[in-house]
Amino acid sequence: MKGILLAGGSGSRLHPMTLAASKQLLPVYDKPMVYYPLSTLMLAGIRDIMLISTPEDLPQFKRLLGDGSRFGVKFDYAVQPTPDGIAQAFLIGSDWLDGEACALALGDNLIHADNLSTLLRNAASRPAGATVFAYQVRDPERYGVVAFDADGKAVEVVEKPAAPTSNWAITGLYFYDQQVSDIARSIKPSPRGELEITDLNRVYLEMGTLNVEKLSRGCAWLDAGTPDSLLQAATFVQTIQSRTGMLVGCPEEVAFRMGFIDADLLRRHATQLGKTELGRVLMELAEGEQS
Ligand code: DAU
Repeated sequence: MKGILLAGGSGSRLHPMTLAASKQLLPVYDKPMVYYPLSTLMLAGIRDIMLISTPEDLPQFKRLLGDGSRFGVKFDYAVQPTPDGIAQAFLIGSDWLDGEACALALGDNLIHADNLSTLLRNAASRPAGATVFAYQVRDPERYGVVAFDADGKAVEVVEKPAAPTSNWAITGLYFYDQQVSDIARSIKPSPRGELEITDLNRVYLEMGTLNVEKLSRGCAWLDAGTPDSLLQAATFVQTIQSRTGMLVGCPEEVAFRMGFIDADLLRRHATQLGKTELGRVLMELAEGEQS
């Protein structure tokens, strides 16, 4: 399975911070925002990743992530000339995907959960259909929303409904089978002019192959698209890391734990990070002083 990291858009809800910088490169506590969804894709075992961003921002992502060897993965890059919708990622990435199954992670989403790697690996290994993750929120009207029948079966997906029929938001992490580019090609722009990811999910729902995993109360899902949610995400990461000494959303750590890189390379990264707390924790991990 391949993975797409979508990191374009105008970031208008974060102006003026995003007037001259990409939203997904803004810091979330001690790391660039894009590190969090990147870590999620890597935790799913995905090592072939395409990053899609704006023509202006793509060079900065290349500078940060390079060819991926730092994390034991391979990066390709593509431009989205204008933000014409999340599902457009599968048209832009169609040739690169070459008929393979694909996960998509939005560059401003952070998921943290105990059993996350199991959930992700299950989703990645499902041979057919699509898997999305639902999370209970107070403000579902801000998101794609999924409603369930009495048996817990997903029956409806709606993008930003004015009157939501459930509190279950669909998170920005999606797993699709080989049909995804063909299906993306079949959907039409919404009234706001975007190829909506919810319309793509609805096709899978109508085919009876949309699998919706409910994330439990113990999970945290945050998006960092507004000043408030950006600050909340940073505070969350800071709280967990300083309380437990464990890292959240650190691709070097994930790469090492997944066996993508060895202790020598991790040690070099830790040295490069110098006197930072991140460098110290990674060095401990490389030296086998952390479980
Ligand atoms: O965060 C989860 C939500 O993400 C889902 O529940 C919604 O169904 C989905 O539509 C999306 O809603 P948002 O309102 O958060 O979408 P937004 O336009 O903010 O885009 C999400 C990210 O994707 C953001 O980091 C920018 C990037 N993006 C978006 C579009 C429309 C692109 O790179 N290109 C695009 O064309």
